[in-house]
Amino acid sequence: MQSKIYPIVDRNGANYSIHKISLKEVYSLANFFSELSSSTIKLFHPHPFDITFLKKILKDGKDLRVILRNSNNKIIGYAFLSKVLLNPGIGYFGIVISEQFQGRGLGELFTRALMEIGKAEMCNKIILNVYNDNLRAKKLYVKLGFKKIRINFFLKYAIIITELIKSEDLQGLVSKIFNKFDRQVKEDRKSIWMMKKMRI
Ligand SMILES: CC(C)(COP(=O)(O)OP(=O)(O)OC[C@H]1O[C@@H](n2cnc3c(N)ncnc32)[C@H](O)[C@@H]1OP(=O)(O)O)[C@@H](O)C(=O)NCCC(=O)NCCS
Repeated sequence: MQSKIYPIVDRNGANYSIHKISLKEVYSLANFFSELSSSTIKLFHPHPFDITFLKKILKDGKDLRVILRNSNNKIIGYAFLSKVLLNPGIGYFGIVISEQFQGRGLGELFTRALMEIGKAEMCNKIILNVYNDNLRAKKLYVKLGFKKIRINFFLKYAIIITELIKSEDLQGLVSKIFNKFDRQVKEDRKSIWMMKKMRI
């Protein structure tokens, strides 16, 4: 089923559309990333861009990931809100627009649309990390009402861990750890722990 499409129009009257990305579009998304300039990638590298990783996050479907297409149906933007471990209601945000399409007001329209979908579907707070010298992005965020915060230790590490465990090996390891915890909880019901303090 095709997901809902949000139409937008830029400052010059050109038409675009925003919709949630599906697994079927994984190759077009990878192609979009491969065409980003190095200066754009320097500012935007929240996760790997290889097919295996992209398939995994799209299949997982837990986060909100949207694309922006121009009237030729070419992907020219990508943005996401990712659920933060142990912090329900907080979405970790990222956005990128192809260099040729930056500075036309699309970043603002795209972010507003994603915030609206995010608010309806998954979070009541959005958090992001931006380089000090990324003036364009900072200006956009201030305009949209984002405020500089002093992030607390636990939230910062929850975000880092959430993003890290999306990588295959770590996710395998984390699920093994949780399975082990589960088994231990069951075993604890029929066993006791004992300790002896040793005198040296
Ligand atoms: C950041 C980004 C998403 C913004 O999208 P955009 O389409 O270029 O932004 P907009 O055209 O909507 O402009 C947003 C604001 O930035 C301002 N702006 C544009 N170019 C600017 C520049 N070179 N310096 C400072 N501000 C600038 C605009 O004036 C606009 O504010 P205004 O509407 O009040 O004039 C886009 O530039 C991008 O993908 N950059 C590379 C990746 C990136 O930095 N991602 C964010 C990581 S946190």
